[in-house]
Amino acid sequence: MCGIIGYVGPREAVGVLLEGLRRLEYRGYDSAGVALYDGSGIRTLKTEGNLDHLEKALARFSARGNIGIGHTRWATHGRPSERNAHPHLDCKEEIAVVHNGIIENFRELKGGLLARGHIFRSETDSEVLAHLIEENLHGDLFAAVQASLRQVKGAFALVCFSAQEPGIMVGARMESPLVLGVGEGEMFLGSAVPAFLKSTSRAVFLENGDVVRVAQEGYLIKTLEGEDVQREEVELPLDIDAAEKGGYPDFMLKEILEQPVAWGDTLRGARDAAGALVLPDFNIPEEELRGVRRVSFVACGTAYHAGLIGRYILESWMRLPAEIDIASEFRYREPKLGPETLVVAISQSGETADTLAAVRGARAAGARVVCIVNTVGSLMTRESDGVIYTHAGPEIGVAATKTFLAQIAGVYLLGLYLGQVCGGLDGAFVRKTLNTLEAIPALLEEVLHDTACIEECAKRYYQSEDFLFLGRNINYPVAMEGALKLKEISYVHAEGYPAGEMKHGPIALLHPGFPVLVLAPRDRVYDKMLSNLQEIKARGAPALAVATRGDEEIAEVADQVLYVPETEAAFYPVVISPVLQLFAYYIAKLRGCNVDQPRNLAKTVTVE
Ligand code: AGP
Repeated sequence: MCGIIGYVGPREAVGVLLEGLRRLEYRGYDSAGVALYDGSGIRTLKTEGNLDHLEKALARFSARGNIGIGHTRWATHGRPSERNAHPHLDCKEEIAVVHNGIIENFRELKGGLLARGHIFRSETDSEVLAHLIEENLHGDLFAAVQASLRQVKGAFALVCFSAQEPGIMVGARMESPLVLGVGEGEMFLGSAVPAFLKSTSRAVFLENGDVVRVAQEGYLIKTLEGEDVQREEVELPLDIDAAEKGGYPDFMLKEILEQPVAWGDTLRGARDAAGALVLPDFNIPEEELRGVRRVSFVACGTAYHAGLIGRYILESWMRLPAEIDIASEFRYREPKLGPETLVVAISQSGETADTLAAVRGARAAGARVVCIVNTVGSLMTRESDGVIYTHAGPEIGVAATKTFLAQIAGVYLLGLYLGQVCGGLDGAFVRKTLNTLEAIPALLEEVLHDTACIEECAKRYYQSEDFLFLGRNINYPVAMEGALKLKEISYVHAEGYPAGEMKHGPIALLHPGFPVLVLAPRDRVYDKMLSNLQEIKARGAPALAVATRGDEEIAEVADQVLYVPETEAAFYPVVISPVLQLFAYYIAKLRGCNVDQPRNLAKTVTVE
């Protein structure tokens, strides 16, 4: 997620903008920039890298003015670079825009703008906003923004100003947050309250579809269609630390609860105007893909668990042979690879050393490589043939949560795309499944809305020193991920196991102080999972179950049941994973652990 700050008031804007961007650094970014009106025109300054680079450049930046906008960019379209950094300008350099979000139809919009002679300077989706506003600007920036945004599909929070109307900022939001800071004779717009909390604690939270016209003495809010809107001014708590976490106690909890948005953003733009699946960065020619006879996933940690799910999906949907290996093992095997093998590397950072080494080895062996990555422009995206980007935004918590779910979305998109290109899936199935995927956020909201039962279970078992997580078929990787989450944030010994393996050893471990969590949704292996539960109970161990809402049979056997909404078997990993994330989160909190920075762990393992 990008950071946005806008200012208009009596003070020198550059200092206010830099302070605001500093307060938004926690969100993660790869470049930054500012633009201001100096009385004669718009002056911009943009740098790649962190804010220290921008601050150093600003020391030599002579422009001064009392209206300006600033931005820290988390790249979604277009590599991290100075030219892709925001603010973006129109052709005449009379309008400056900063944007947070994903413009789904930017290719169509850009094509039209180019055809009408507009000159683009960047490869971003955001720049189309500057040129659309330019086309619609006829003396009223507010009206120009409304007219432009009525053409835009997707998520946006934007702030802009124009040299034609000095002293006026215009902001708008759709899905991506934007907040108005109401100061004494000065006004702010920010993507989050820390951007201006040092200057004012009075704020107006804009809603989807709001467009706000801001001058230093006041503001006006209307809808995209021009109806007046009244929004309440609220007094904010002055706790910056809490504000950075969006009011949540930890980034991890905030990111768990962001999963519906992360899922939706990952799917955003995956369909063209006709509703067909498109993966714009896949970059491997279709005729080459039709020669693929095998897929080989490589990844580490949580990403490996997403790859395990991908293997089930490809074999089930595509009947395509699929294998998977831990990246650090893959590189020491001597797998038989060639053009008939598609290697799929999964990595939220795109910088994990072992996975990078596996990618290099695979390409050296003649395989084509596509990576499923969350970080635009990361090394892995440059060393692979193609990319499926997840758009979970920056994940501050070390333990992967929303990026894991986004990776699962990525492997579903991979399965559908291969099926569509190689002919394994008919169009009706692809469209139906895309519709199902697009409806997932609502299911996730259901899961995340009712967490009391999960917290209650955590309270009952947080003092246990051992856990066994059991899953079968596509939920076996989910059990593995649930155990990893618990291990890495609460330091409790937990193992994820294929349920069928319990009798081949782990059952010897069971005792009354050794809880077992069984993933038993209503699918074709349900009865076998019920048997596992009975075997666990027979050994006197506590048995927790994750089950499909409405399943009363399982409540007769398990000691506690955590329910998830009913869905198709292929999608239970999506609705079960947040339950296990929260279970681990609550246990870790009860054990007094630092869930955002667990001991011994790094967010990205760039060493082997
Ligand atoms: C998971 O919670 C961990 N943060 C870790 O296992 C992580 O998934 C692994 O290091 C892979 O990281 P990557 O996705 O950035 O490649």
